[in-house]
Order: sequence, then structure tokens, then C-alpha cells
Amino acid sequence: MASNILHFHSQENQEIIVVVVPFPAQGHLNQLLQLCKLIASHNIQVHYVTTMTHTNQAKSRVHDPYSFINNNNIHFHELSTPFFNSPPPNPNSTIKFPSHLQPSFESSSHLRKPLSKLLTVLSSKAKRIVIIHDSLMGYVVQDFVYLPNAEAYAFHSVSAFTLFLFIWENMGRPFDIDANFLKDVPSLEDCFSPEFEKFIKLQHDYMKFNSGRIYNTCRVIEGPFLDLLSKEQISNNKKQWALGPFNPVLVQQYGTKSCHKQHECLIWLDEHEPNSVVFVSFGTTTSFSDEQIKEIAIGLERSEVKFVWVLRDADKGNVFAKDHQSRKIELPKGFEERVKDKGIVLRDWAPQLEILAHSSVGGFMSHCGWNSCMESISMGVPIAAWPMHSDQPRNTVLVTKILKVGLVVKEWTRRHEVVTRGMVQAAVEKLMASKEGEEMRNRAMDLSGALKNSVAESGIKNMELDSFISHITRQT
Ligand SMILES: *[C@@H]1O[C@H](CO)[C@@H](O)[C@H](O)[C@H]1NC(C)=O
Repeated sequence: MASNILHFHSQENQEIIVVVVPFPAQGHLNQLLQLCKLIASHNIQVHYVTTMTHTNQAKSRVHDPYSFINNNNIHFHELSTPFFNSPPPNPNSTIKFPSHLQPSFESSSHLRKPLSKLLTVLSSKAKRIVIIHDSLMGYVVQDFVYLPNAEAYAFHSVSAFTLFLFIWENMGRPFDIDANFLKDVPSLEDCFSPEFEKFIKLQHDYMKFNSGRIYNTCRVIEGPFLDLLSKEQISNNKKQWALGPFNPVLVQQYGTKSCHKQHECLIWLDEHEPNSVVFVSFGTTTSFSDEQIKEIAIGLERSEVKFVWVLRDADKGNVFAKDHQSRKIELPKGFEERVKDKGIVLRDWAPQLEILAHSSVGGFMSHCGWNSCMESISMGVPIAAWPMHSDQPRNTVLVTKILKVGLVVKEWTRRHEVVTRGMVQAAVEKLMASKEGEEMRNRAMDLSGALKNSVAESGIKNMELDSFISHITRQT
């Protein structure tokens, strides 16, 4: 941390300093790290600030890591916080919210003091400091209000659709909206643990200090919901910017760069036909029971569709902590041998964005975390949605009913049931080998094309980013 501050006077454009404070869970860490690069590309100093373990986690998993590590405008900080418990996930839990991460979430509150110190130092060196923090880190950043030249913006890591509904319902539905948007929207029951609901409420008490909101979405996919969010009752006339997609939309295959070893699954994908492989991955907060894993395996095998399956337990709070009784996830006897020409099972971290960008991949079976939805839509890949918790059930409605770029594997009303092999097989077959699946793929490709246009010089995403940059670098 000290060296970052010492080096900092040698950089250009030090009038404005941006400080980014992510929430310590993978989907959140990644989205805000990607945003750092977008802001840094405008030659603005960006400081990415979280605990040592979470800084390392974000850097080690990001797409194209060297473009971050070697970026002179991005400074990584590793603040110390007390030890926290990092228990394993419970694969048998009926509620899929990752309660085992709660100690890590609670521990992040200890960032308040060291962050406040850092902000004070940076504040004295800059004309203005701009704090962009996850909406779940309001408590941690609160002391910025004592600095004369600081302002803060809340980043919401969920879709505009989900966020709008959340705020609108909390306000008691203050105005009418198109009834079509409400069809099929499930309640929030079982989406969060009670402890996490408390945590969210605490963070929201600090929202009043913010100057505006930032979203990882784009007008071309969520225009109507961005309009609803900008209604005065919801926005309080504060500014908002849809700066997504944060992830790159034009992904170069690493293999073409000699310095980087291509992941084994990308080499495997090279051997297959366009749109012939389904990518199966449920993010970093899902742990399945042994029974559920068996049903997925047999369903995939019976579909006879080729697959890349990322089979891993949910992250622990500290992903680097040694775990002596780590779970060995068992597959049905002989499964891997039987399917060896059809699919591969990955048990470690997988380069998701590159996999989705690969032309052989034609579908994504996903938990529908927002980071995954944005990556999939950016790459034109339709989704078989199997939501687990948090915003995922509602993202599923957005993806399948509103954008129509996917289908539902498991309805949220059946959340306590095991998904059978037959359901897995039917979903994969429909997504990969039916006329309806083809139509979803075509719509996903159209959205991907629109997103690619949005990042062009005069595109809407680029204009929003320019507008945000002009705002934070304004003279007055
Ligand atoms: C989950 O349930 C299975 C089957 O009942 C059992 O073998 C396993 O030990 C349980 N795992 C945990 C972490 O409770």
C-alpha cells in the first residue's frame, strides 16, 4: 500500500483520483475490477481497495490479468483486516444462499478504518476523490463525508430490472408499471439468509450520502428499466450511469498471444463444430448435493450434447485458505470414461469469458448471477437458467421472459426439489437442438451485436462512460 502512494505523484492526471471499493465476493470483485480498466483507459488514476485475500482473488481470476497488473493507472491495495472464519459450504442446505460466506462479509466492515486513512492521504493529494463502492459497502466508505473534496457513487451489481423491482417494492409500489414486467416475478422468499438481509439494510442506511448510481448494464438491453430507475421518486434526482458491459465484448483468444498458455478446455473446444457445445457452470456460490450432481451428470450424458462442465464447490470466504477436509466431489461410476469424447469436467477455476466467446459454445447452463448473464449476452450465448439465490430468480425472468434469450431449467417455485436427469436432459436438448433454442440463440446474437455497437466510438455505452468521466473531472 505504501509504495502505491509513494509512486503516485509521478503519474499524470492526478487531479482526480478514483477509489473503487468492491464487496468481497467473486461476481462483485470482478465487475468492479473490470470497471477500473474502463476508467483507467481515460488516463485517470484508479485505486482498487479491499483485503489482501480478496485483491489477490480478483487479480488471479480476472480475464487477461496482465492488462490490469501492468496498467500504470490501476493501483491495487491490500488492506489488513482481522482473521475471519472460512468454513466450507453446506451442499445439503435447502436454501442455496451461501451463508458460509457471512463471516467474510461481516469481516469486511473492518475495512472502514484503514480505508478512511487511505482516503485522507489521497484526498490531500488530489483536487477531487471519487469513490465508487459496491452498494453493499456503504458502511465501510461512510467516512468520506468528512473529506472536503470527496464524493461517492454506489455501484449496484445486479440488473436494472432486479434493482428497480427491489426499490419499487420497498417503497410500497409508488406508481404503476407495465403489468407485463410483473408477470412471473417471484417473491424474495428464500433468496437471502436473515443475517444477510440485516446486512443489506445496514448498508442502505448510508445511501443518502451518495451522489449517484452506477450499473453494469446497457441501455440496449435494459432501457425500459433504466428509465424506471431514473423516475424522480426512485432516483431522488440523483445522477445515474449505465456503464456496462464492464467485461470486454471483443475477446481475443489467448492462444494467439504467444506469452500465454491456452487453457486445456479451449484447445478441446477448437476441435468442435460451431454452437455444438453447452457450457455448464453455476458460479462461485453454488454447492450441490451428491444426489444433484449425479442427476446433472446423467442428464448431460443422455442428452448426447457435448459439454464443458465446471464442477466445483462454492468459494470459501478465503479462497486461498488450506482446507484439509476438502470435499472430493464424486461423479457416477465410469462417467468420465464414458463421456470422454463428448465432454470435459473441470474442477478448478475456468476462463469463463473465453469459453463463452468460443465459437463452439452455443449455450450456457447457468445460475444466472448478473456477472454471468452479462458475459453470456455479450458473447451471444443463450442461457438455460437454474437460479439459486439472491437476484438470480429475477434475473431468470429478465433473461427468459423479457429478453427471451433463454429457458428455465428449474422454476423457482420448485426450488426445494432436486432437478432430475430428465429435466437436465430436456433443457439441454431444447437449448442446443431445437427450433426454439435456435431462436433464442439468434436473439442472443442480436443483443451481442447491439452491445458490440454500444462500445464503438459513438455507441451508447461509450457515450455514458464519457458522460461519467466528464462529470467526475468537471472543473467546478
Ligand atoms: C450431505 O448429505 C450426504 C448424504 O446424506 C452426506 O453423506 C454428507 O456427509 C452430507 N454433507 C454435509 C456437509 O453435511
